[in-house]
Amino acid sequence: MKIKNPAGDISDNERSSTVSTVVSPISIFAPAKLNLFLAITGRRPDGFHDLVSVVAKLDFGDTLHVEPAKGLALTCSDPAVPCDESNLVLKAARAFAAATQWGGGARFFLEKRIPIGAGLGGGSSDAVAALRALARISSRILAPTELTEVAAQLGSDCPLFLASGPVIMRGRGEKVEALPERAAVRLRGRRVLVFKPGFGISTPWAYARLATGAPASYLPAAEAEARLEAWSADPEAPAEALLWNNMEPPAFAKFVALPVLLEQLRSEFGLAPRMSGSGSACFAFLDDNVTIAPIVAAIRAAWGASAFVEEARLS
Ligand code: C5P
Repeated sequence: MKIKNPAGDISDNERSSTVSTVVSPISIFAPAKLNLFLAITGRRPDGFHDLVSVVAKLDFGDTLHVEPAKGLALTCSDPAVPCDESNLVLKAARAFAAATQWGGGARFFLEKRIPIGAGLGGGSSDAVAALRALARISSRILAPTELTEVAAQLGSDCPLFLASGPVIMRGRGEKVEALPERAAVRLRGRRVLVFKPGFGISTPWAYARLATGAPASYLPAAEAEARLEAWSADPEAPAEALLWNNMEPPAFAKFVALPVLLEQLRSEFGLAPRMSGSGSACFAFLDDNVTIAPIVAAIRAAWGASAFVEEARLS
């Protein structure tokens, strides 16, 4: 299913010109993301992990509909998604109100398409969509640095959704910069197949597993930066040469259905599949002339009817 981006991906410049426009109700596209390169470089004193990651957003995602209301309320198309205060949309609304002294309310309806527990950033993207929506209905302006701070408090993967296009993410996720254009052109518009088994993987579990495994599971920051720079600087290096994720070994050791299928996709279809983030979603780039039916059939044969499969493009 192809989904257009109804709200557009708003850059910081565009944002400042749109915040004063009161539109009600409004719909904001909340894209999924893929970690094309994910190097966890070490554990921090605060218990989080430092990382270096190249992240691209997809033209596939959720849609958050918002209208002004009394108080804050959330409903969702997927009954499995909790709509209480634990949901990042409501947490984002509370954080926005606190940061801007906004005393208004909003009713959110989340059209959920991004699977949860997938490493596709669905909850984080929804939270940032909520911040964008509230900026528009409240006309309260947060400076880009404040907005990044609010987003980072909500979750490590939130700040990346404030930027458009492929980004490099560092720190625990709060330091985000655009991927240099010479490298971004090799990613933008690439066709990709995203697939996930019926089960998810908990992000805290995946990080804990990495932390308690062999020390060699971490990739030293200097090595991560060198790999990234080598790929960026080589105009001949294809997108596939960037792919890396050192969260795979601990996840694959427990969830063996993942490496078994990825190996099959390598040998039968010549794909270069990887896991995204902490999993359990995986992805593979597709050439434009590839027919996906046999690949989808292989995924369903291995993972069953509950598997999620979506064709998308990097944005
Ligand atoms: O920030 P977020 O709520 O997404 O993080 C969820 C969990 O994932 C954290 O509690 C932590 O265990 C782990 N994490 C980490 N280092 C990061 C991001 C997440 O250890 N950079």
